[in-house]
Amino acid sequence: MVQGLRIALAGLGTVGCGVLKLLKDNADLIGRRTGRKIEVIAISARNKNRDRGIDLSGYDWVDNVVDLPKRDDIDLVIELIGGSEGPALELAQACLKKGISLITANKAMVAHHGLELAELAEKAHIPLAYEAAVAGGIPIIKGIKEGAAANEISRIFGILNGTSNFILTTMEKDKRGFEDVLSEAQALGYAEADPTFDIEGIDAAHKLAILSTLAFGTKLDFASIKTAGIQTVTLADMEKAADMGYRIRLIGQAKKNDQGLFQKVSPCLVPCNHPLAQAAGSLNAVVAEGNQVGRLLFEGAGAGAAPTASAVVADLVDIARSGYTVPFGMPVEYLETAATNKADSDKQSAYIRLSIANTPKAVSTVVATIADADIALESLNQQEGKDDATADVILVTKPCTEEALKTLLKALNILPEIKSSPVTMDILNI
Ligand code: HSE
Repeated sequence: MVQGLRIALAGLGTVGCGVLKLLKDNADLIGRRTGRKIEVIAISARNKNRDRGIDLSGYDWVDNVVDLPKRDDIDLVIELIGGSEGPALELAQACLKKGISLITANKAMVAHHGLELAELAEKAHIPLAYEAAVAGGIPIIKGIKEGAAANEISRIFGILNGTSNFILTTMEKDKRGFEDVLSEAQALGYAEADPTFDIEGIDAAHKLAILSTLAFGTKLDFASIKTAGIQTVTLADMEKAADMGYRIRLIGQAKKNDQGLFQKVSPCLVPCNHPLAQAAGSLNAVVAEGNQVGRLLFEGAGAGAAPTASAVVADLVDIARSGYTVPFGMPVEYLETAATNKADSDKQSAYIRLSIANTPKAVSTVVATIADADIALESLNQQEGKDDATADVILVTKPCTEEALKTLLKALNILPEIKSSPVTMDILNI
């Protein structure tokens, strides 16, 4: 008789409750797929008395999450507390040190401490799994770590945050304001406890750091990711992008080449007919380019209780079936330290929105500054500003390097005619 698997669950928010529900609803199927009895023995969260709408009476309640690994009747802990430090990290370290397998959906913790945790797991020869940490229900970790394992991957990019995608695509479709749509994303359980992580691109950057490590075999490097969020995107930008045949999406992109590792999260213009432009609502979509398989596209629900629980329980099924594999696709000691490539060396066009003084001279000064920066213009459109004294100008450049664009933005920023910081977005050639 194969042994059962005794589980403790830490964190009973949207995803934690989703996992308990899924394990109950699909218990029979999961039992047949693993050949093992999977039993949640203990649960722990900050607030015992919160009404979560599910019956918790069949589980042992543990007040302090960090006490879970002190028990001797637990084989595996599922960490769904969140946060890169504090109780989540303390719990993860204690589990792996004691030889208790760990599943986590915590992208912040994996992005910041993944290597240290992987070393603990490798030392103890026990699984550390984190499928739910990246792109919700999409099996992207398994896809890159296993499905594309024979390939050298040169580039990986996509939509990695469900909340931002929900906000952008709902604003676009319903012409609704940012704050209004954000509240809806929170009510639907997509957003982080601190939604600025979603909106400012930090959550997507956590996920991108993890994908880069898996794709390129390089050490986690969250700190070098250039991050910009969707807070500056307006309905007017969306309309202008649509006129040009594009949609605005928050894109995480990572490339590794001779210049090093380039990683960036930012709102970009994506051609309307590309699958990334078609991904609406809380969907995520990721493209990976392998040197043998070519282009792979992964798409699916990027946030929410059931899709994220699906990824958590996929890890559980995997561990129940086959046990240990190294967390990052190769032992930590084989991961390379890649040089950081701070600016994308591939040329691409840029969308630039400027608020300028409403004078004929202001436009000519802007055009002259662009010419001085040796950047060619594709188009320039002047629109009404917030008041009579200002005008909005939308510029589209011909393909140029990021370095050249940076120089131009610096020069624009110091012009007295420029009334607020330019908003720029890459126009992706994908
Ligand atoms: N807040 C995250 C998102 C949840 O919106 O994508 C899934 O990681």
